[in-house]
Amino acid sequence: MSTRRAARSLARMCASTSARAYDSATSAASARALSSLSASRDPFGRSSGGAEGRRPRGADVDARSSRGFSNRPSEAVYGGPKPSPDRFTLRRLMRKYAKGERISVVTAYDYPSAVAVDQAGIDVCLVGDSAAMVVHGHDTTLPITLDEMLSHCRAVARGASRPLLVGDLPFGSYEQSPGHAVQSATRLLKEGGMDAVKLEGGSPARVDAAKTLVDAGIAVMGHVGLTPQSISVLGGFRPQGRDLDSALLVLDRAVALRDAGCFAVVLECVPGSLAAAVTAALDVPTIGIGAGNATSGQVLVYHDLLGFTRHPHHAKVTPKFSKQYADVGGAVSGALRAFRDEVAGGAFPGPEHSPYRLGAEDAASLARALDSRGMGAAARAVEEAMDRERRGE
Ligand code: KIV
Repeated sequence: MSTRRAARSLARMCASTSARAYDSATSAASARALSSLSASRDPFGRSSGGAEGRRPRGADVDARSSRGFSNRPSEAVYGGPKPSPDRFTLRRLMRKYAKGERISVVTAYDYPSAVAVDQAGIDVCLVGDSAAMVVHGHDTTLPITLDEMLSHCRAVARGASRPLLVGDLPFGSYEQSPGHAVQSATRLLKEGGMDAVKLEGGSPARVDAAKTLVDAGIAVMGHVGLTPQSISVLGGFRPQGRDLDSALLVLDRAVALRDAGCFAVVLECVPGSLAAAVTAALDVPTIGIGAGNATSGQVLVYHDLLGFTRHPHHAKVTPKFSKQYADVGGAVSGALRAFRDEVAGGAFPGPEHSPYRLGAEDAASLARALDSRGMGAAARAVEEAMDRERRGE
């Protein structure tokens, strides 16, 4: 994409931002954010943006999230507390795209994975419905529910304060009507702490849903090519766009989603040449997964990337296009086996992991007290343990 086209696109996105999803003073989410901001609190009770705004452990933290929306219009409309300058907002995403810089996206499903994604400086964190497979152990993404997704979203929102957070609309949560989509997506933002949502497919019904969501003030990422929620009609997890008709269908759907207002489109499991064509045809970022190297960014599933593949289930659901950057599965099983062996052999815990001690006099008093209660075995156990402590065992 030429720099000029990208700049035009950015200008258009920013204009449509204020007109629609991202700066919609009329949207319920923005109204909520604004009213919270005027009380110097973001929608989740945090007093300022970024990690420094986190509330202390044990404070009365709303169970939903400790992270406010990244897209709130603080600079343009409100002069109060600013979000952390490090926050990867939608505007920042579009600026990065306009400069031709590649966008990194990784999935996360819980607090620790979100913290790891955040600390690694990943741009966008997707709470994917792949959770159904890599976290819940299902063979497909179909079984996960909106409530389960919300629980993942809340945990991720607590852990990731920098990346743009995108929550997947799970199968069954948005297909009935555009209103159904708005209802579910609103929950992902309000209750899940997400900045945007992703929906799968580019059929006319999906495009309608995407448009309605954007009109409702909700930023939408599209997803075409292999859309795992449609395996029932696709006949399984199969690459898409591998003949002329299918390639044009993928392209047309991506264009339709962009025209509906999607801020980015995921291209999954399609030939690299097709992904290159879609990327050239769109003026919003394409995010590839199994789609070659010509897209505007790449997304990988956390567990695939880290190599949580020791268990046959994970091996089964790890796609062959995924690159494994670590052998976390190997490290995890090695550590668990070592723990099991040290417990069995009595090596754990050693003195360095047994921090709580009785003083010699108190131990002797305890032994006497136990003896006087007729608990001789317990008294001898105290004495023997004290002897072992003295020997540093
Ligand atoms: O659910 C997911 O993780 C996804 C990515 C594979 C794009 O949709």
